[in-house]
Amino acid sequence: MITSNNATTDSSASTTTTSQSVLDMVVIKTVPVDRVWLMRHIVMYPHEPFDFIKIDGDDTTALHYGVYIKQSGQDNNNNNNDVVDKEESLLLVSVVSLFVNGQKDEAQFRKFATLEQHQSRGYGTKLLGYLIEKVKEMGISKLWCSAREAKSSFYTRFGLIQVGQPYTKNNIKMIRMEMIINQQQ
Ligand SMILES: CC(C)(COP(=O)(O)OP(=O)(O)OC[C@H]1O[C@@H](n2cnc3c(N)ncnc32)[C@H](O)[C@@H]1OP(=O)(O)O)[C@@H](O)C(=O)NCCC(=O)NCCS
Repeated sequence: MITSNNATTDSSASTTTTSQSVLDMVVIKTVPVDRVWLMRHIVMYPHEPFDFIKIDGDDTTALHYGVYIKQSGQDNNNNNNDVVDKEESLLLVSVVSLFVNGQKDEAQFRKFATLEQHQSRGYGTKLLGYLIEKVKEMGISKLWCSAREAKSSFYTRFGLIQVGQPYTKNNIKMIRMEMIINQQQ
């Protein structure tokens, strides 16, 4: 792990170049918690007070991962300068936070968010794929999330299945989804 200025760089950060120009120079790495809070607020709860988006463990035990892209001229003109990694001139477009339980056998991912103007470009898919690989490496048995029911088909593609009954939180219909990562001996 290398830390420089405000940016924490995961030594396993991946740089992927694909044939799609929009996905050129995609870097997935750990994200400082203040940037994660900003992203959550912008994407998920812009009308709530800023502290609404903070959750227990965010600045202690949680692991935060994000997708950074090379800024295009268009991105340079937007108002998301606060989520730009200035040192590398990369724009943070998607984040997710991982919370591992005390026994280190289960992990929950929470607050998955891609900037609206960058949604449906495959960044969330890349980030969740990366997260699942990380969780596998950690030897964790089960990965789960509380998904917006309307988004459950997105997670089904990764092998997560719905568990239990839907419930309502902050006026949003939610469902628990989980997948077995490593079979316990
Ligand atoms: C959920 C969320 C994080 C997904 O992030 P994303 O970066 O848009 O994810 P992707 O681009 O990989 O996939 C989104 C959709 O675009 C599609 N897609 C992926 N790459 C694509 C491409 N190159 N061209 C067109 N569509 C594409 C995916 O199939 C997916 O379709 P679906 O919504 O029908 O399942 C994002 O929609 C978001 O931030 N939503 C608001 C906050 C939220 O609801 N968070 C989740 C709470 S459970």
